[in-house]
Amino acid sequence: MSDTAPQDWNPRDAAVQADQIAAYDAMRSRCPVAFSDYLQWSLFRHEDVVRVLEDHETFSNAASRHLSVPNAMDPPEHTHFRRLIEPYFGPGAMAEFAPTCRAIAEDVVGRLPADGEAEAMTEMGQDFALEIQCAFMGWPTRLHEPLRAWVKRQQAATLAGDREALGKLALEFDGVIREQLESRRATGDAAPDDVTTRIMNETVEGRALSDEEIVSILRNWTVGELGTISASVGILMRYLAAHPELQERLRADRRLLPAAIDEILRLDAPLMSNRRITTRPVEIGGHRLAAGERLTLLWGSANRDEAIFGDPDEVRLDRDPKDNLLYGAGIHVCPGAPLARMELRDFMEALLDATVDIRSVPGRPAMRARYPAGGYSEVPLRVCTRKPAGKTC
Ligand code: HEM
Repeated sequence: MSDTAPQDWNPRDAAVQADQIAAYDAMRSRCPVAFSDYLQWSLFRHEDVVRVLEDHETFSNAASRHLSVPNAMDPPEHTHFRRLIEPYFGPGAMAEFAPTCRAIAEDVVGRLPADGEAEAMTEMGQDFALEIQCAFMGWPTRLHEPLRAWVKRQQAATLAGDREALGKLALEFDGVIREQLESRRATGDAAPDDVTTRIMNETVEGRALSDEEIVSILRNWTVGELGTISASVGILMRYLAAHPELQERLRADRRLLPAAIDEILRLDAPLMSNRRITTRPVEIGGHRLAAGERLTLLWGSANRDEAIFGDPDEVRLDRDPKDNLLYGAGIHVCPGAPLARMELRDFMEALLDATVDIRSVPGRPAMRARYPAGGYSEVPLRVCTRKPAGKTC
């Protein structure tokens, strides 16, 4: 199909990459179901995305050539693995991780300069995501730098559509995880009682997990976490700096934080897209799709749809949370949402506790990230902390 189909748009065009959100807004009104070689059928409207999420029989997740547990699975296989995964993000697990989460948030925020400039992505977002991720999995701190470099290369290879590089990166990452498995096996009963060891000892349908399945689960949690949490931190910090009145409101009343975080990340998506494949002929947005056609759900557009949210840029803390597709919906809804929400709330609380003001830097606007990353590649900020040297603020 793709060789001959007319291109409705080019997702990799420089103008699209310069500001994905603005480009998707324009596409949503111009051509809400659009074909391109790179993303195949892109869905921009909330209504169309929700329809896909609710009909997992027509719109399958088996859109990847590689094993991806549980992201690229359909029921009944998907259901078995979801049952295994969900307790890791349940109330008990979250309570157990809460003190570590808070301590890491405070530690990362504590590295802000007393009174000066900071770059939110490299100095806050990436550090927080890497440290919290390794702590959650029980991985050593020496993995922070290789993982940071890996995420960067992975995003570049995805944008380039470089399958060979992506294959190599996947292998490299598998190597990192397998090392963790081997070191735990070598220590036997003395292996640490952490998330990685617990996953290794899980069973599904009465059998032990294969190494491929363990690696895939851990890889998806890592990929889910590193890109989205660091993007979220950058988006949230930039938003506070650009909207001093909301910053003031949140400083005065921290109970507003959970709704404010979900709402800011609704209008400026940390995760841009996910994929599906049709299992039968279907009509969507006036287009007839055959079985086997690939679709891209653009969260960064659906969550700004005027038909649902009115002015997409208006932050309203009393919106109905069910319309917000930040963590998806349906059977693939993000299992890591309780963890992500706790991490981002702790980070923001620590940030507001440690600072008196966060502002943009005149003449140095934030730079938008390129697909597949959401958010920003660079967010220069001026921060005034409560540290002794921060008296000039
Ligand atoms: C702000 C942070 C995050 C955002 C915005 C986010 C968003 C999403 C979304 C929209 C989906 C649905 C994908 C689809 O329908 O195809 C999803 C699925 C998933 N997320 Fe997250 N996520 C975040 C953090 C996390 C974390 C911290 C983890 C784990 C440590 C995680 C693990 C997963 C997994 C395993 C799936 C696949 C679930 C399935 O297929 O059943 N995510 N996420």
